[in-house]
Amino acid sequence: MEKRRVFRELLEEVDKALASGMGREEKLKKVCELLASKVPYYDWVGFYLVDEAKGDELVLGPFVGEPTEHVRIPFGRGVCGRAAVEKKTIVVQDVSKESNYLACSPKVKSEIVVPIFKEGKFVGELDIDSHEHAPFTDEDRVFLEKIVDMVASKVL
Ligand code: SME
Repeated sequence: MEKRRVFRELLEEVDKALASGMGREEKLKKVCELLASKVPYYDWVGFYLVDEAKGDELVLGPFVGEPTEHVRIPFGRGVCGRAAVEKKTIVVQDVSKESNYLACSPKVKSEIVVPIFKEGKFVGELDIDSHEHAPFTDEDRVFLEKIVDMVASKVL
């Protein structure tokens, strides 16, 4: 797969979807669908959003892929919880080597979690699981950070 071309096209498609008349949940779901359908190694794509009432817990939002038991994740737990504390993108190229990890499916080999900030405030994350070992490069990180910035400014 030619990442540069696929990511460029996806940025345009996501931009279009976010400008459409769809509601917030539909737009988030559409972003998941676009990413999962165009990038062969993005096997589970979903949003976790900060539970505003609690302030220290993530709640599962729209996603594409197998259902997960992890619908609520306290800050600090698992890769998602760690990204919420560290407030930076976390790449785990081999989940079998990660001690602070919440398993969703035995098929998952690697994961990237990208925090979302709205006007500087941490509001949620984009979480992607892959069935491939170590597929994520800096290109993925830069691309996904652009995607979440668009989501933050146009949807959240
Ligand atoms: N693996 C994540 C949990 C969420 S699932 O990947 C959908 C974690 O360790 O936080």
